Amino acid sequence: MALDIVPTPDALSVALTETARLVEAQLDALLPVPESAEAKLIEAMRYAVLNGGKRMRAFLVMEVAKMFSVNRTCAARVAASVEMLHAYSLVHDDLPAMDDDDLRRGQPSCHKKFDEATAILAGDALQTRAFEVLAEADTHDDAEARCELILALAAASGMRGMVGGQMIDMESEGKQLGGPEITRLQALKTGRLIQYAAEAGAILGRASAQQRHFIAAYGRELGGAFQIYDDVLDETASEADLGKTAGKDAAQGKATMVSILGLDRARAQAEKLAEQAATHLESFGDRADLLRTLARFTVTRTS
Ligand code: IPE
Ligand code: IPE
Ligand code: MG
Ligand code: MG
Ligand code: MG
Repeated sequence: MALDIVPTPDALSVALTETARLVEAQLDALLPVPESAEAKLIEAMRYAVLNGGKRMRAFLVMEVAKMFSVNRTCAARVAASVEMLHAYSLVHDDLPAMDDDDLRRGQPSCHKKFDEATAILAGDALQTRAFEVLAEADTHDDAEARCELILALAAASGMRGMVGGQMIDMESEGKQLGGPEITRLQALKTGRLIQYAAEAGAILGRASAQQRHFIAAYGRELGGAFQIYDDVLDETASEADLGKTAGKDAAQGKATMVSILGLDRARAQAEKLAEQAATHLESFGDRADLLRTLARFTVTRTS
């Protein structure tokens, strides 16, 4: 289905804003008030996860869950959990030992606002809290569904997922990787978690194996498009728009599609993946319209 006949970007931006409101209220409720001797840790966790962001992973959970009529509070808990995991990955990604970025979401990165030790610990604790929330009984009546969510998040974020991808990303600095290697790097560091976010909505909704398969395929290609476009923005967008330092990938010799294909072909590849992502939604009819618009947004966004 062509992506230009789906709901307007305005409808998506209203929905994203609504998701942000809901998930931030949930995050606030799921994280304690900073007090006692470890108050600084909680403050840093709250800073890292409540300081903005597009909330795209949260939106994926909520929007897929909606297609399967999942209770909104349950979906919002899972959406908050994935945003905690994502925020942890950003806090660690910005550390001096990794991308060494002082700016995140338009504010000082966590290690700049606090200090390195606190940022490492805040990332660690956001990660464990993300899993704890999934395990809690309020997340789903069925313990098997909770177990499946935990398993899927672990697989998406660990050694064969986000962390594995970050390892390859660091090791590839200054090296020229081929297209298939970059595709795998990006699928691991970014794609797997985005795919998980989509699949989590289907797990919550006890979707059939076939429905889950289509949602996974959508998430996988969307994730591929998302990271390529992140690399395009790194080169083309301003620091003010991005809320993070611009032009860092080239400066650090990162292995990106932009580095091997150039801007125009990298952008075209992201667009192709976004189009392909939407083709997997056919069987869901107009219930998936906002997910189609999200695919378009992924490769037209400005931040
Ligand atoms: C940035 O993700 C990190 C990548 C995986 C490229 P987002 O662009 O989704 O960051 P926020 O959550 O909107 O800040
Ligand atoms: C980060 O990729 C992916 C993560 C797992 C956090 P980038 O290093 O390109 O993300 P940004 O550009 O700093 O947000
Ligand atoms: Mg990085
Ligand atoms: Mg980075
Ligand atoms: Mg980037």
